[in-house]
Amino acid sequence: MSQPNGKLRSQDWFGRKDKLGFIHRAWMKAEGFSDRVFQGRPVIGICNSWSELTNCNSHLRQVADAVKRGVWAAGGFPLEFPTISLGEPFMRPSTMMFRNLMAMDVEESIRANPVDGVVLLCGCDKTTPAQLMGAASADIPSIMVTGGPMLKGMWQNREIGSGSDVWHYWDELRANRISEEDFAEIESCISRSAGHCMVMGTASTMTSLAEAMGMTLPGCASVPAVDSRRMVVAEQSGARIVDMVWEDLRPSKVLTPGAFANALRVNAAIGGSTNAIIHLVAIAGRLGIKLPLEDFDEAARTTPLLVNVRPSGKYLMEDFYYAGGLPAVMQELLPLLDRECLTVNGKTTGENYAGAKCHNRDVIRTLAEPLAAEGGTVVLRGNLAPNGAVLKPTAASPHLMKHTGRAVVFEDHEDFKERYDDPDLDIDETCVMVLKHGGPKGAPGMPEWGNLPLPAKLLKKGVDDMVRISDARMSGTSYGTVVLHVSPEAAVGGPLAIVENGDLIELDVEGRKLNLLVPQEEIERRLRAWEPPVRHYDRGYGRLFVDHITQAHEGCDFDFLGHYEGGEELRGNARSWKRRATAHLPSPF
Ligand code: FES
Repeated sequence: MSQPNGKLRSQDWFGRKDKLGFIHRAWMKAEGFSDRVFQGRPVIGICNSWSELTNCNSHLRQVADAVKRGVWAAGGFPLEFPTISLGEPFMRPSTMMFRNLMAMDVEESIRANPVDGVVLLCGCDKTTPAQLMGAASADIPSIMVTGGPMLKGMWQNREIGSGSDVWHYWDELRANRISEEDFAEIESCISRSAGHCMVMGTASTMTSLAEAMGMTLPGCASVPAVDSRRMVVAEQSGARIVDMVWEDLRPSKVLTPGAFANALRVNAAIGGSTNAIIHLVAIAGRLGIKLPLEDFDEAARTTPLLVNVRPSGKYLMEDFYYAGGLPAVMQELLPLLDRECLTVNGKTTGENYAGAKCHNRDVIRTLAEPLAAEGGTVVLRGNLAPNGAVLKPTAASPHLMKHTGRAVVFEDHEDFKERYDDPDLDIDETCVMVLKHGGPKGAPGMPEWGNLPLPAKLLKKGVDDMVRISDARMSGTSYGTVVLHVSPEAAVGGPLAIVENGDLIELDVEGRKLNLLVPQEEIERRLRAWEPPVRHYDRGYGRLFVDHITQAHEGCDFDFLGHYEGGEELRGNARSWKRRATAHLPSPF
């Protein structure tokens, strides 16, 4: 139930015998609903991130229709509502700039409206964490239905993957190994259907982790977007949320420390995106759960890489689904997981996945014969990243895991774009490329600039990887020996800000070290001389963002959106609900 007194929350709107009840029912009848819908049915909000500007989520209206079937069949009353959507390829300066805005939209849309439970429809990278953050803060019964990955791309009988093969073939073009015509053909072959990117990028990672944490029905994450079974799981989720309302099964009962520990393990085993770190820290923060970076590192050290999907492996998400998908991974990982975690279907993780089967052991490996002994993302520390930085070893080059090189510094992304392909740039493959001001405040919005393209003159020599360091993020579809999320970032005076051309930088992945090999007195002298950059925004959402965004190791949530200590009382107390609900009523009446 939405309230501890056994009353549906929506009845504060639709069950009233007074003037307000009249207004709420009468205005709802404008949509053609009869009195039957007000007679004690749980109202299920379908929180839809559909948008034609978010191609990955462009099929979610159809998914919502399937959810509605399930809600009606189970005795609920479905009402679909939109929120801001975040289309990864289009939004400037980056979707990350707007993840928290979407999370606020989701939270307040749920809180302000007469809904007893929510079905969250997501897909593209940031839409999944934003919905989980918002739903965790609103904390009414919620279930997620992910949109599913698109079909694999095919070019000249070659399988091509979202993102990963864009970076690959762009480099091939710049090295004159494919033609302009080839590249144009690839453009028309790479995105064959609705759905999110079909490598283990951020979208596939976050949807997999939503399932791993118990926020979707088992098996939801991996079904391709256009497979009819996507609609089946949507209908089942619609039916299930109605029961969840009666059971009062809220996100705070599902998103427990054990659920996050499972997510860290699964992230390591699937070779998940580095972006997952920031998102999981932010979601956990909404529930008052701390996830220090060292927990991710520990999960990486002790969880083998099992999933052979790009960018860490060979296959694509469609192959992953046919091989058994996330359930097969969960089953294999069960000895390492917290099996007692409650999930949205009312069963535990152990109960849900004990019987899952794998149908292709080249795609999903066993713990005994993994793809790599260690998976996941490692956490580096040192005088260049006192609060941490991350690197994904499974997508990096073994020969660069321990490397000391001369810094080639780019002060910001504009500087990088102007100079990286300059034939006169003093750089070779032993250098370390350093990008400053790509962080949460500095860019702003921490764009996916971290996998800096290599200079064409080095590509033509056959160089295919170099150490690159920044306070930015990188696409989950990217690969390379790329150090990301350096914290504190350059724009707040982190040591990255004072790196100069020619400084030596030491990367030691095994030792988890990232150091600027400059005498301490010189570092201190430079830090004293450092001056903060000009703030990017003076008004509007941009101003709110730069004034309140936290650093990468803190999840980049706003500093005022973390767990509210009095939250339980506010959420659980019927009078508080009523006070909050009436505070949102329109005044003309
Ligand atoms: Fe939406 Fe990749 S662009 S998931």
